[in-house]
Amino acid sequence: MLAFAQSHRKTEAEHLALIEQWLPPDRQSLLLGPWRLAGLLTGALPALFGRRAMYKTIATVETFVDKHYQQQVDYLMNLGGPEGLLPVLLRCQADEQHHRDQAAALGGDLSNRFIHMWCWTVSFGSKVAVALARRL
Ligand SMILES: [Fe+2]
Repeated sequence: MLAFAQSHRKTEAEHLALIEQWLPPDRQSLLLGPWRLAGLLTGALPALFGRRAMYKTIATVETFVDKHYQQQVDYLMNLGGPEGLLPVLLRCQADEQHHRDQAAALGGDLSNRFIHMWCWTVSFGSKVAVALARRL
């Protein structure tokens, strides 16, 4: 789990650095503090229930992230955008798909009412976070 988290963290830090190059400081979300807290809770809460709950949570988040990237990719392919942004998003999306598939495999067949409700909450919370980030 630790090796997975360290590898994942390294990739996410690279993504953050890449995306920040495209986002002027005055356009960054005003909610970075709450996002960090939400991220901490999204990782810490399932950790109380074991590794497979963690992996299921990661697979849920990465499934959402993959779809979110796909929306941005579709937008750029249909309407165009800044030169060079599309390859950056495709690279990041591929990394997230890898994370999703890795986490899904490691999470195994864990399935119960609690994990189903938790993953639904994580997915819904991710949608709310994106909706808020677009406005604030
Ligand atoms: Fe990821």
